[in-house]
Amino acid sequence: MTEPVLDVHLTPEDAAVALRAEALEGLTARPKWVSPKWFYDAVGSDLFEDITRLPEYYPTRAEREILDARAAEIAATTGAHTLVELGSGSSEKTRLLLSALRDHGTLHEFVPLDVSPSALTDAAHAILADYPGLKVHGVVGDFTEHLGLLPGTAPRLVAFLGGTIGNLIPEEREKFFSSVRDVLDPGEWLLLGTDLVKDPDVLVRAYDDAAGVTAEFNRNVLRVINRELAADFEPDAFEHVALWNAEQEWIEMRLRARRAVTAHVTALGVDVAFEEGEDLRTEVSAKFRRERVESELTAAGFELHRWWTDSQGRFALSLARVA
Ligand code: SAH
Ligand code: AVI
Repeated sequence: MTEPVLDVHLTPEDAAVALRAEALEGLTARPKWVSPKWFYDAVGSDLFEDITRLPEYYPTRAEREILDARAAEIAATTGAHTLVELGSGSSEKTRLLLSALRDHGTLHEFVPLDVSPSALTDAAHAILADYPGLKVHGVVGDFTEHLGLLPGTAPRLVAFLGGTIGNLIPEEREKFFSSVRDVLDPGEWLLLGTDLVKDPDVLVRAYDDAAGVTAEFNRNVLRVINRELAADFEPDAFEHVALWNAEQEWIEMRLRARRAVTAHVTALGVDVAFEEGEDLRTEVSAKFRRERVESELTAAGFELHRWWTDSQGRFALSLARVA
């Protein structure tokens, strides 16, 4: 079997430097925070896949339902030669798009991009095995930084699935949409998955499951920091918290110190002290309404061409074209 091509725009050394800078800023801020992109080492990427199969975590199933119903229409509308996928993870649902584009007869190349080398290499090999003849050109990179370096011939369809856009705060989203717009030519396409505002109880359960998988995913960020920055956080000293911020319309995941604890972060030369009950914000997961999605896309220079939701109205897929 031929091997997938792999470009590495973010080496482990680059990632370590970036984590050092961000951790210094976030762990010494008030309130304390870390960016959710550090969840996804090999263990975190596997835990995310476990989350997608939990009964409480509906977004993956809801998005798959929409893709199942609409992939053929997406292929016919876009006629894409290249499917780029940002934050591609396992690219499992993406197979629906790949199959539809292949059946439509236009697909030449698949370009998955992810910060997680393990998730990316596993996915690239699995897709190559199941789509013989497809050029698979993976990119290890950060979608907030490395979009200018993407391979692939036009017309391109950029897929950003799973609701990962909600893990960016509004200023980051604005920058992100503009940079996607900047790398595309008029007439090229963005397919965006967004989780929708709904009953807060349903939302909180999706981020605080009974089996505790999301709690382990959340604590994994401390294991990553311990390993990469020679720190000594005790993951079990922190409680997993998921709460609905009604004003911002996002879920916040936090790690709350069960007691006063101090961790030493050797690579930063700092001690990070938590009071009992003090939180470290590890993720926001914004939930959307159609108006917000449409206005953010329009502001970046896209035209919303189609808006589809699953049968229960929980999740939306937007197909947008560069105006
Ligand atoms: N798209 C998949 C996976 C979602 S999980 C799905 O819908 O199921 C989020 C994925 O985005 C993870 O694989 C993670 O490694 C990746 N990711 C998170 N932040 C990233 C960043 N800044 N740049 C590139 N990939 C990122
Ligand atoms: C990847 N991202 C869209 C997930 C989400 O739902 O925000 C990450 C996640 N966090 C907790 N559970 C899943």
